[in-house]
Amino acid sequence: MDLHKDISHILIGEDTIRARVAELAAEINRDYQNKALVVVCILKGSVVFFADLVRHLTMPVRFDFMALSSYENSRVSSGIVRVAMDLYETIEDKDVLIVEDIIDTGHTLQHLRELLSARAPKSIRFCTLLDKPSRREADIHPDYCGFTIDDHFVVGYGLDCGGEHRNLPYVGVMK
Ligand code: IMP
Ligand code: MG
Repeated sequence: MDLHKDISHILIGEDTIRARVAELAAEINRDYQNKALVVVCILKGSVVFFADLVRHLTMPVRFDFMALSSYENSRVSSGIVRVAMDLYETIEDKDVLIVEDIIDTGHTLQHLRELLSARAPKSIRFCTLLDKPSRREADIHPDYCGFTIDDHFVVGYGLDCGGEHRNLPYVGVMK
């Protein structure tokens, strides 16, 4: 089975991703100097990006994980966000950085911001690998963004279509 057969073309290659992830981490290191950070990986799509990003961070960090689902295996956002798995630890009075794979309509992060703000963190910021601003419906802007892309459905580097293609090492456009 050819892993690449459903891909029409590579949108962002491995070297480009690697260089940009290092740049994002440098921004985060600068902004959170002398602070401790809770970095939250939004499962499952962010796991590859998260794993690469955190290895460039130089402040003390704690990892946490949360699983959200808005898509229910379709390509169209339902606007309904379900918490499939909540954080393990309390975030009260903590600086929190949410690591997301892609912001599309923004419904997922809007919902998450409301949910987590109620737990009284010191701060919450969003770091996303990809942003599709042309599709935005909610008032959400990433604090750190790897790449702004046009309205393509992309997979790879953690992103899936129907649960597959997450292990592609690049970001590609589906056929
Ligand atoms: P939003 O709530 O519309 O912003 O959707 C965000 C979530 O939709 C992301 O975390 C992804 O899981 C998924 N998503 C949006 N666009 C894409 C895409 O192009 N490829 C794969 N997943 C996507
Ligand atoms: Mg996701």
